[in-house]
Amino acid sequence: MTGNELRKSFIDFFKTKEHKHFESASLIPDDKTLLLTVAGMVPFKPFFLGEKKAPYKRITTYQKCIRTNDLENVGVTPRHHTFFEMLGNFSFGDYFKKEAIEWSWEYITQILKLDPKRLYVSVYLTDDEAYDIWTKEIGVPEDHMVRLGDDDNWWAAGPIGSCGPCSEIYYDTMNMGENNEEINAKPGDEGNRFLEIWNLVFTEWNRLEDGSLVPLPEKNIDTGAGLERIASVVQNKVNNFETDIFSPITNEIKKVLQLNEDGLSTPVKIVADHLRASTFLIADGVLPSNEGRGYILKKLIRRAYGSGALENKEIFDNSETYLYKIVDTIIDNIKEAYPELEEKREYIKNIIKNEEDKFSRTLKIGTNILFEEIEEARKNNSNKLSSEVSFKLYDTYGFPFEFTKFIAENNNIEVSEDEFNIKLEEQVKRSQDSRNKTSDMIKDEFIDSFYKTHGKTQFLGYDSLKIYSKVLHIKEIENKMYEIIFEETPFYAESGGQVSDRGIITDKKEFTGEIINVVKKSDIFIHYFKLISGNIPNVGDELKLIVDEEFRRDTMKNHTATHLLHKALREVLGTTVEQAGSLVNNKGLRFDFSYYEAITPEQLRLIETKVNDAILANMPVYITYENINDAISKGAMALFSDKYGDIVRVVDISDYSIELCGGTHVKSTGAIGLFKILSEQGKASGVRRIEAITGKESLAYLYKLENTIDDISSKFKTSSGNVIEAINKSREEAKLQEQLIKELQRRLVTYEMSDLVNEAVEINGVKVLYKDFENKDIDELKSLIDIAKQKLKSCVVIFGSNNDKAIFVAGVTKDLTSKYHSGNIVKVAANFAGGNGGGRPDFAQAGGKEGKLTKDAINAAIEYIKGL
Ligand code: ALA
Repeated sequence: MTGNELRKSFIDFFKTKEHKHFESASLIPDDKTLLLTVAGMVPFKPFFLGEKKAPYKRITTYQKCIRTNDLENVGVTPRHHTFFEMLGNFSFGDYFKKEAIEWSWEYITQILKLDPKRLYVSVYLTDDEAYDIWTKEIGVPEDHMVRLGDDDNWWAAGPIGSCGPCSEIYYDTMNMGENNEEINAKPGDEGNRFLEIWNLVFTEWNRLEDGSLVPLPEKNIDTGAGLERIASVVQNKVNNFETDIFSPITNEIKKVLQLNEDGLSTPVKIVADHLRASTFLIADGVLPSNEGRGYILKKLIRRAYGSGALENKEIFDNSETYLYKIVDTIIDNIKEAYPELEEKREYIKNIIKNEEDKFSRTLKIGTNILFEEIEEARKNNSNKLSSEVSFKLYDTYGFPFEFTKFIAENNNIEVSEDEFNIKLEEQVKRSQDSRNKTSDMIKDEFIDSFYKTHGKTQFLGYDSLKIYSKVLHIKEIENKMYEIIFEETPFYAESGGQVSDRGIITDKKEFTGEIINVVKKSDIFIHYFKLISGNIPNVGDELKLIVDEEFRRDTMKNHTATHLLHKALREVLGTTVEQAGSLVNNKGLRFDFSYYEAITPEQLRLIETKVNDAILANMPVYITYENINDAISKGAMALFSDKYGDIVRVVDISDYSIELCGGTHVKSTGAIGLFKILSEQGKASGVRRIEAITGKESLAYLYKLENTIDDISSKFKTSSGNVIEAINKSREEAKLQEQLIKELQRRLVTYEMSDLVNEAVEINGVKVLYKDFENKDIDELKSLIDIAKQKLKSCVVIFGSNNDKAIFVAGVTKDLTSKYHSGNIVKVAANFAGGNGGGRPDFAQAGGKEGKLTKDAINAAIEYIKGL
């Protein structure tokens, strides 16, 4: 079975067990506390925790995952990856241990046809129930069973939250080790003999912050089987990288790097792994940067680049880009399961090529630092490079350790891998500590218990802007600032880029509060208000909630316009355009999107026109609630994070633009008014930002322009219709005046000169004229030289001017050029003022940095002339 067949057979199998197949969710989880999707269960966390009701009780997925905690092992061991796929089946309050165990066994032995003699199973120390199902009902012999403790057979996605004992299925690879040392090994022991292929987690406990366990209201199943591992077993390969999931990729890498080796070297495996991860991260909207996911992506591309470049001297020496060439093979090999990669192909290649390009230069800087350090070590008679340096190169410049080692050792300098690893461990520990602080399972205890008592807040703000509702919670947070929760609310809470509503709340008496922000946590709307007057209401009181209508209307215009802009961008620039962020408020909209090139003024105008055409067509906006699959098949644009509601809210602008969106919108596009783009610019590599306005703001913009033009017209004493003509006329006049000024200046110079020539001195029988000025431009100095030559007939002249910088010109009449050379004279002055220059024997000009040395510089030139 190929990897693609395997993936499909797993899903098909669980479909026969009445599971609903859900598409792989994004690698970027909805959960803000989690950096990446690390397991198949991550997209379902709200279902496990009971925060949301699962739309189906049985779900199956193949889920793209990334784990980076074992980065250093990738390519070194046969099994480690950053990117991998997890096959899983999930039960939310439906079946439990018995079915989970039976079906896993059925799939492995009957569909994959693995030999039961080579299968082993572990259960949690005290889990007799699972032990009995395996031994008595399935018939796994006792000598193929092990009981393991917390480290191996207890699974949790974090220190608190849902968790439970697990049971793992192992495959005996019969790899007994080089010296047969694994002959008596058991699952769970160190070594490579037993390969864990499937983890069944019986999620039935909730671990509280004090460490105690309380039963979850429902018992759940979460299973995970690594596709790459199962493929290695089914395809009988000792190394995951040898399966057909990787072989086309590793072959392509070898071709691109021109390697003739037979097997697979570690660098080839690193490139294959990291490039797969990078391809998927970019497809999910991550861009290389210096923090969070962007940093992980950057590091992966750089490690991949460095590892491969080390294998090919030409690529290394010439800083060539090559990784992007391998992306096509990666996509072709996996697009069956992730068709969305296809349309992002060129985009992904661009991002990777760009990062490679940048890194190849960093690599040069890093290499220079390394050489300096090597030199330094030599000077100190040391033959060792400190781990500070090797770690800094790794951490700051993205140098793989092997790189540093390679270069250092070629220069007879040792670099200790152990010391480097200590530094690395320190860093890993630091980042783990910070991860623990923001564990993905840490929950808001208050929201949790509030939800249990009251359920979610009803949001009525799509249809009403004014309602009465009962206070369920109120609390002062700081002086005169309160948080308040109602049974129902018309106030939109910030989400999907749209800001929260503003407005007021009042009672029938004196109380008035101004709502300044609304946030939504687990579908509970928390309002923040400032006390304006009266007494603070109590829980149980009924208040009147009034949304600021104008604020909301203006915001809606901008939100609908954002959808039209998104559509127009895709029409004009192509479907590689993906939303990368958006902000919608009452003043305007900001839309970030992925696009790799600059946008021309013509394209921008076309985008703006398309949006305005759609507005002028006054298209009705339909809001419906649909099944996610129906919506997607209609062509609705959806962010991946939208995919788990099952029933979704669809904003359909008369079939022109269809998006899944929870925001508030105008009833028909005509209400938006004029759409005007204010700016378009690059925001980060591969991301561009458009800022635009609508409605009243566009009108205000127009008035402002009109006022400016009126202002200009009145300054030119004409009407706005004639202002361009008036400006042109005025520019013509200015040009004439400029010419006149030049002519007057020329006359002035001649006049000045009649005095100046009297200042000529005699040096060695030759007339020499010199002077320093302030702020004269080079042309003036040149004409002064010409006039001096005319008047004095036979002379040497040098002038300079302090214009912040120094400028010098020198001239020598033809009769004297055999002895005096203008170029040499001017050079002496320029050198003195921190510059350089030269020229012909009869005329030369030069400059220097130090304007204040002009006078001294000329004196130096005169000394030089005296010495000739
Ligand atoms: N969530 C379980 C794991 O990742 C299945 O191993």
